[in-house]
Formats: sequence, C-alpha cells, structure tokens
Amino acid sequence: MKVYLDNAATTPLDPIVFEAMKPLMLEYFGNPSSIHGHGRTVRAHIERSRSKVATLLKTSPGEIFFTSGGTEADNATLFGCVNSLGVDHIITSKIEHHAVLHTAELLSRQQLVKLSFVNLKEAGQIDLEHLETLLKIPSKKTLVSLMHANNEIGNLIDLKKIGALAHQYEALFHTDTVQTMGHIELDLSVLPVDFLVGSAHKFNGPKGVGFLYINSHHKINPFINGGAQERNMRGGTENVYGIVGLAKALEISCKELNEQKSQILNLKKYMIDQLMKKIPDVQFNGQCADLNDSLYTVLNVCLPPTPHNEMLLFNLDISGISASGGSACSSGSNISSHVLAELNRDPKRGAVRFSFSKYNNKEEIAYTVETLSKLIHPTK
Ligand SMILES: Cc1ncc(COP(=O)(O)O)c(C=O)c1O
Repeated sequence: MKVYLDNAATTPLDPIVFEAMKPLMLEYFGNPSSIHGHGRTVRAHIERSRSKVATLLKTSPGEIFFTSGGTEADNATLFGCVNSLGVDHIITSKIEHHAVLHTAELLSRQQLVKLSFVNLKEAGQIDLEHLETLLKIPSKKTLVSLMHANNEIGNLIDLKKIGALAHQYEALFHTDTVQTMGHIELDLSVLPVDFLVGSAHKFNGPKGVGFLYINSHHKINPFINGGAQERNMRGGTENVYGIVGLAKALEISCKELNEQKSQILNLKKYMIDQLMKKIPDVQFNGQCADLNDSLYTVLNVCLPPTPHNEMLLFNLDISGISASGGSACSSGSNISSHVLAELNRDPKRGAVRFSFSKYNNKEEIAYTVETLSKLIHPTK
C-alpha cells in the first residue's frame, strides 16, 4: 500500500484545478502585459483570479499580490516593513517557519532591526503576557510576525487576540497563514491583520505560486524590480496558469471547507485513538492532540524511546508510507527540527509528523498505525 501522509509539506493537485489551468498552458498563451487581444485575454484571467481570491477572503483585489509562494511573500513582508514602513523592531518566535525566522535574523545581523523572541509555554503556545512586555519596548515601529498554525506541530494562535494586542501598541501584524489558507476560514473584513500569506500547493493547488495580502493602509516598495506587473510591485511575467490554479484551488477548498474539516478531523481522531491503543506511552508534540487548539491536518507523534526510532522514517518509507520527521533521531539525518528543539521534550523520543488531506482514508491510517507499532515493537 502507498500512503501519503505529508500534506503539510505539499498536497496533491486537485484534478479540477488541473483542468482549470490547462487552457492557460495550451490555448491562452499571450503575455498578459501585451496590449493586443492575446495578451488581454490572459490579463483578464489573472484579474478574475485576483478578484476570486479577494472575494473568498472578504477583502479587495487591490490588496492581493501574487508571488512565487509563501517564502517569497514572507520575505517581501519583512523586507518591505523595514525598507518602507520604518520598522526597527521585529517580534517573532523561535518556532516560526524559516521563511520568517531566517529573514528576521538576517535583518537583525544587518543591524536594521532589533529582534525579540516571544517566550513559549510548555507545548509551544505563545506567552501573551511576554508578548505585551515586548510590545512596550520603545521603537520607531514594531512588527509582530507570528504564524497562524505551526507547520510541524499544528499549534494555532488566536489571530484576533494577537492582532488586537499588536494594534493596541501601534505595531504591525504579519501572520504566515500558509498552513491554514483554505483549511480554516479567514475573513479579512474582521481580522486585525496587516499582512498575510498563502501558498497554493498547501491547498491542492500547483507549486510555485502564492500570494501576499497587504492591507491598503500600507504602501511598501516593489519586492521585485524591473517590470510593471502586479501593479508595479513584482516585476516579471506572471505565472499565469499557477495564478489561475491557485484561485480555483482556493475556491474549492473554501467551498468544501466544513466537509473536509470533519472528514480529516475524524481521521486525526482515529489515528490518535489507534496510536494510544497500539503504542503504550505514545505522546504528541505541541498541542496537536488538543483538537480545539490545533490544526486538524497535522499530528506530530512523540514515540517512546526505543533503539528502533533511529531509522523510523526510512522504514516507514520502505513500507510505502510517506511522512516527515523533525528530530535527528527519527529522520535518520543530521538536521534536527528547530521547532521540536524549543519544546520541553525527551530527546531520546522519536518524532514523526503525519499530515492529512481530503484524499486520505481510514484504511491508510490503520495500515500506518499497524506498521508504526511493528517498527517500534518488532517482537510483539
Ligand atoms: C508555514 C509555512 N510557511 C511558509 C512555507 C513556504 O511556502 P512555499 O513552499 O510556498 O514557499 C511553508 C512551506 O512549507 C510553510 O509550511
């Protein structure tokens, strides 16, 4: 059996999305910047896609900028805030995605910002009291950048609460919503968010395309120079079929959101249940087993210390199961997870992240738990 449980890394393309992209690959090939008919047709597809994304997020098309994905959108936000909006203090956390963490660290090394890390509680939750203390540090302008859902452990933050707190201190609020876009409803008409990002391949869209939402109160300098595309903000011929695919994928995800959520949540509950039955002493990293405070697509399993943890991912792979690791001992590589390193956990325990999509089913979960339990207790 082949089982794909690494949907936080990327999701399969929805065939309906592929069908929507096809005409832009074969039929409508004009350059959207050309003023002739071939170009205008393609431009219309881009602008319709932008309007679709804006409508789904309850915002205006002028606030949506297409990018090459989440990493670029995160980079553009942090650099833009520093270069154009006078930000000289960034508050973030040590468990952010590297797209934010490494960019913030670079800006700090270049002495362009003071960098503060908010304290985390035991399971990786944001310490809100400490966040408020950091917001009181005098600065010209502060940016708070905290991800909506952590891609490794699924912890969720309260966007309304954190955005309101940041704004109370006149700070800007950026949130990396790459893991929640299309999975949790995001209503920008009420969320106190200045910058937010999406990446199509995390919601059954194509790879290499994403977007950045910039609240219309803020004007930042172009993030790629050399062309008038994306209203002068991002030079370069647009990834037209990617953009059309992104909008279609988001439309489907938003339409199916409740249905998908209950289907995937059932799989996650079933997996937690089965793991607890088959692997005594199993634990879960972060808040992911707390179904109300975590993203339903992610389950990060913390396995009892056994000599078999070493090659766990490799052996799962041999059995046809694709999942992802994190800690050095479970991945068989030397690269350890910066997220798990921040949690107070026994380093001898293995860690495997399973992440689900609408294409998974109960049989796959049963097979995975059975395989995992045999790998942990080979003599049973
Ligand atoms: C939370 C988060 N932010 C950013 C990214 C990067 O997105 P992209 O692959 O579109 O550059 C990812 C992808 O793994 C992610 O999980």
